[in-house]
Amino acid sequence: MKQQQGVVVVQPKYYATFNQTQPPSYWDYENAKIEYGSEEPYEAICKIGRGKYSEVFEGVDNRNGTKVVLKVLKPVKKRKIRREIRILQVLKGGTNIIDLCDVVRDENLKIPTLIFPYMENTDFRSMFPKLTDNDIKHYLFELLKALDYAHQRGIFHRDVKPQNIIVDPKTRTLKLIDWGLAEFYHPSQDYNVRVASRYFKGPELLVDYVYYDYSLDIWSTGAMFASMIFKKEPFFQGNDNYDQLVKIAKVLGTDGLKQYIKKYNIKLDNAYNGLLLKYQLIILICYPKQDWLSFVNQDNAPLCSLDAIDLLSKMLLYDHAERITPKDAMLHQYFAELKQN
Ligand SMILES: Nc1ncnc2c1ncn2[C@@H]1O[C@H](COP(=O)(O)OP(=O)(O)OP(=O)(O)O)[C@@H](O)[C@H]1O
Ligand SMILES: [Mg+2]
Repeated sequence: MKQQQGVVVVQPKYYATFNQTQPPSYWDYENAKIEYGSEEPYEAICKIGRGKYSEVFEGVDNRNGTKVVLKVLKPVKKRKIRREIRILQVLKGGTNIIDLCDVVRDENLKIPTLIFPYMENTDFRSMFPKLTDNDIKHYLFELLKALDYAHQRGIFHRDVKPQNIIVDPKTRTLKLIDWGLAEFYHPSQDYNVRVASRYFKGPELLVDYVYYDYSLDIWSTGAMFASMIFKKEPFFQGNDNYDQLVKIAKVLGTDGLKQYIKKYNIKLDNAYNGLLLKYQLIILICYPKQDWLSFVNQDNAPLCSLDAIDLLSKMLLYDHAERITPKDAMLHQYFAELKQN
């Protein structure tokens, strides 16, 4: 444990120093030279997605007729573009990680476009109501493989959510996509807390703790896991970032939150403009910790084996340093009898 401006910093259990063992050319994306290919072979056919930072099209590679996805990046900071490309290059070929095929640029406008293989997929969220216990187990395990692969290489995703996971129910393959918010992890580096989508934001982001690490991805995964086993999507549904913390506190209890803030010496006065009073209030309010079993109802009971609840309770912990890691989660009893179908 170490202190940084009074705030306590704890290193992640695994892979904390991975980037330190690599040359700067590995992680120093700001100085990376990006080689752009010609956009000529690729033709956009129809729009399939529109995000804050990109427009995504289904298209074709006219050289061989294969279906591709073109992610046309909006004009954002060069640094962010380099980061996404560099991370996709580092993770290329990784287990359950979307494969970057090419990076191209319009000759005149210089708009970068990322090319991926088109994956047959069903909206992951629309699948949630029908997922069986064994399906949930299978897809969660596949997601954990992707996360462990990335973490092992010094990278965290920071935006794990159903929309960033594509799943083909026919082949039961899963790919973790959208590495636009991913980062290289360096011990004791302070990170921007404005990452991840609200419902999947870990408590660390909501209390403005900037020394967070890989364990953020496990929180987001846990929030998704809870929504699958309890059939409530999203599981923590806050109306704003402050309310998001309230929704979490109503489940995990306020005592744990107080201990968390105390352990890390987190100063709530940094948290969000004008929200300080509200944040102080939440510490005064008293919500008891809920028993996870109280979320099980008759309909979803078969999905909630005690093993599932045990694993979930190890993911959704306020204290990021206490959360189970993807590597250890894969060894959990819950996956003991993972069947192939
Ligand atoms: N390789 C792919 N195959 C099929 N569909 C894809 C593929 N890549 C992306 N998509 C679809 O396009 C959507 C948007 O892609 P992505 O999440 O990468 O971009 P985005 O959300 O616009 O990015 P940002 O978070 O930067 O705004 C996905 O949610 C998914 O439905
Ligand atoms: Mg996305």
